[in-house]
Amino acid sequence: MKFPEIRMRRLRRSEPLRELVRETRLHPGALIAPLFVCPGEGVRRPVASMPGVFNLSIDAAVREAAAAVQLGIRGFLLFGLPAAKDEQGSGAWQEDGIVQQALRAMRRERALDGTLLIADVCLCEYTAHGHCGVVRQPEANGAFAVDNDASLPLIAKTAVSLARAGADVVAPSDMMDGRVAAIRAALDAAQLRETPILSYAAKFSSAFYGPFRDAADSAPQFGDRRTYQMDGANRREAMREIAQDLAEGADMILMKPALPYLDVIREARDRFDVPMGAYQVSGEYAMLQAAFQNGWLDRDRAMLESLVSIRRAGADFIVTYFAQAAAKLL
Ligand code: PBG
Repeated sequence: MKFPEIRMRRLRRSEPLRELVRETRLHPGALIAPLFVCPGEGVRRPVASMPGVFNLSIDAAVREAAAAVQLGIRGFLLFGLPAAKDEQGSGAWQEDGIVQQALRAMRRERALDGTLLIADVCLCEYTAHGHCGVVRQPEANGAFAVDNDASLPLIAKTAVSLARAGADVVAPSDMMDGRVAAIRAALDAAQLRETPILSYAAKFSSAFYGPFRDAADSAPQFGDRRTYQMDGANRREAMREIAQDLAEGADMILMKPALPYLDVIREARDRFDVPMGAYQVSGEYAMLQAAFQNGWLDRDRAMLESLVSIRRAGADFIVTYFAQAAAKLL
């Protein structure tokens, strides 16, 4: 059958009809809000390149999360800005580290009962040089290297420390090879067998992380992340990364960035029957916010359209700085 028997427009005539035949849905339960926790009290410091995003002291982070819960947000992804940094990134696994303290405070807060607290696991916010692992002494030619195997035990003990402090899920974002297996073994050895790992399995080296590095004060002091994060041109390699992380014991995978990599998300969805999220990263957010501030895009519609596109590509859930704003509309 074809036109005129078929008229595709018949099902677009009214909102109830469109709603009935809508294939992809957004709901607040699928949105995870990042939180950047910093030292101090009563701190709510705006991040310049990310309007609406703040560095929050623990008390302010608890309030921010409680307000988000009122909007239907159930999941939070925590990042930390430590008071001090060192070569190894020891602030990442300290018993009284900034995220560890935040997790305990959030666990104590009744208004946050039943929420999902996900801890990002990485060293870059804690190392003086800003890389995601430990840096080996410069070689003779002056080149530096992020030492994969030497970083694994540090990343693993960071994950254990965060889980002990109250993280429901640990999410390694460092892109070292073998970190998922190292984290799983360390969690199991610490009797944390039920703590799932959400692995940033395919994380591309991206210009779109720029604003995050302001928010988390984690820009590399020299070099870049191209020797450990993936080359943006490689889709097949992304599938191998995912397969490796699943073989090592990842329970869920996270794809990142989202909008410039929707094809990779779709392929991952078609190939792997595992829960998958996507991270709409800081640069994607900043880009849209800049257009909103100029009045160049309709804020609500562009925001929801970007989120629907990520779900349509196959992501089950989305980490997004729009979580609260989107939840208000849903
Ligand atoms: C830490 C980490 C980064 C992001 C999430 N975890 C920064 C990076 O790899 O440079 C980026 C998130 C964003 O841009 O919103 N390794």
